[in-house]
Amino acid sequence: MTEIKACLFDLDGVIVDTAKYHYIAWRDLAHELGFEFTEKDNERLKGVSRIRSLEILLEVGGITLPEEKKLEIAKIKNDQYVSYILKMTPDEILPGVVRFLDELRTAGIKIALGSASKNAPIILDRLGLSHFFDAIIDGNKVTHAKPDPEVFLKGAEELGFSPSECVVFEDAEAGIEAAINGGMRCIGVGDPTILGKANIVIPGFENFGLKELKELEKN
Ligand code: BG6
Ligand code: MG
Repeated sequence: MTEIKACLFDLDGVIVDTAKYHYIAWRDLAHELGFEFTEKDNERLKGVSRIRSLEILLEVGGITLPEEKKLEIAKIKNDQYVSYILKMTPDEILPGVVRFLDELRTAGIKIALGSASKNAPIILDRLGLSHFFDAIIDGNKVTHAKPDPEVFLKGAEELGFSPSECVVFEDAEAGIEAAINGGMRCIGVGDPTILGKANIVIPGFENFGLKELKELEKN
């Protein structure tokens, strides 16, 4: 198979566990609206845009709101979420991530971010990771949410590589589908029962490096 020239990373759940902050903010909002929102419900929000997340939450609560009100409460949730992420420190980067990003740079493999989050730049900045990324495609730059491949295709384009030269790292099923739809190889990070469509699934980056990445070239 084609040589790997670039790696595209999802952010939430791959580089850092921000899902817990998203959850607390959505749960509090659900309480305000008068219903419970469980961690299991929260699984459905992974990889999904902010406004779509709110729609799923309202579906869980059986609530219908006008568009204007939705925007208003999405802002309340986001303000709370931002207050959490502004307190994050580099200790919260998931194990093995910095070592792997370093290995990629040393090997001359380009690195891009492909995230649905509009807060991605703040998070990378708080974690001190911005300098690793040759391209950052986030929720501010895309119009079509995963599983549409737009976020990853834009990343590949900005780096100057074809999809077949790229590998995507994702923790959400919609993200794996986006990579496949874009014609990219993909590595699931997390639960193999959810991410079964990926080329391989790893539990995290602790035991994953350049050598293991290169194995994918043999497929
Ligand atoms: C994704 C998360 O990365 O970003 C979703 O997995 C989240 O849970 C989405 O809804 C949008 O994030 P933000 O920060 O723009 O609200
Ligand atoms: Mg994710």
